[in-house]
Amino acid sequence: MQTRSIGTSDLEVAPLVFGGNVFGWTADERTSFSILDAFVDHGLNFVDTADVYSAWVDGHQGGESETIIGKWFKESGKRDKIVLATKVGMLGTRAGLSAANIAAAVDDSLRRLKTDYIDVYFSHLDDDKTPLDETLGAYQKLVQAGKVRVVGASNYKGERLEEALAVAKDSGLPAYQILQPEYNLYDREGYETDLEPVAQKHKIAVVTYFSLASGFLSGKYRSKEDMEGKARGSRVEKYLNERGLRILDALDEVAKRNDATPATVALAWVIARPSVTAPIASATSVKQLESLAAATRLELSTEDVQTLDQASAWQK
Ligand SMILES: NC(=O)c1ccc[n+]([C@@H]2O[C@H](COP(=O)([O-])OP(=O)(O)OC[C@H]3O[C@@H](n4cnc5c(N)ncnc54)[C@H](OP(=O)(O)O)[C@@H]3O)[C@@H](O)[C@H]2O)c1
Repeated sequence: MQTRSIGTSDLEVAPLVFGGNVFGWTADERTSFSILDAFVDHGLNFVDTADVYSAWVDGHQGGESETIIGKWFKESGKRDKIVLATKVGMLGTRAGLSAANIAAAVDDSLRRLKTDYIDVYFSHLDDDKTPLDETLGAYQKLVQAGKVRVVGASNYKGERLEEALAVAKDSGLPAYQILQPEYNLYDREGYETDLEPVAQKHKIAVVTYFSLASGFLSGKYRSKEDMEGKARGSRVEKYLNERGLRILDALDEVAKRNDATPATVALAWVIARPSVTAPIASATSVKQLESLAAATRLELSTEDVQTLDQASAWQK
């Protein structure tokens, strides 16, 4: 499998990232372990989590996903097979990107993850109350201490990213080398108009989140009844409209042509986008993971990409 590099770092990753928000939420500990084992067996290596996962679940505080990954590292001995990303800034008790918060949050994450280094540390959300040089200065200390290898930005606007890159350059601080925006066949406009040009200009790696639109692009939600009682029902409701259904039809057509599932095709379309390093997607079973992994082997034809581009076009 052809790997891709992250910015100017020496990190090499396979073109599909596993999204760890399911660990301890829609995938229990045993299922999570079997998914992670299967992920590594597929030759894949990049796993994404955050300190805040999965604080939105009743009775959870955040840290549940990192804790499961840490237990898996310990039980399996596979820490060195994984490029590990986690994030700081959105956990209620460790909110924001101040230097003091970052210093405390990283140690919390390392403890839960049972490791002494994080490969990619993301700012989970822009924090306009903290000066950029304070945040990047805090990251510099972590890099110097060997706790973090590369820093990244999630949910940043293009203009603020440009500012952060300029501050890093002018002050000799670590620059963001990887971005994590929302992007999928349905949600295209925000990334394509704002962050994509900045990422391309500065040759920054991009890993996209909600790459399956929370499962909608698997094609399993085609009516309101399909969503009833489902953990992600409320998250996919917004996709159930004329454009969403048109995208599902196109996915069905391309999936049939390639003897693949719609989920595989949806991820292959993201992988084919030149500015994208890898889509992040999650699965709640080893069977679902097969559909995700297959995307790294599926090369869409020009006709396939055109079919999907046309169905999902957002220009008026
Ligand atoms: N930076 C950020 O602010 C941010 C925000 C959100 C997410 N993320 C990252 O992105 C990752 C991915 O997001 P996500 O997991 O929420 O959404 P996603 O990848 O778009 O959707 C994944 C979900 O779709 C369903 N699915 C997957 N494969 C399937 C298949 N073959 N057939 C049917 N259903 C299938 C599963 O849910 P069910 O089985 O429950 O249906 C799975 O958990 C997260 O884990 C996280 O790492 C980052």
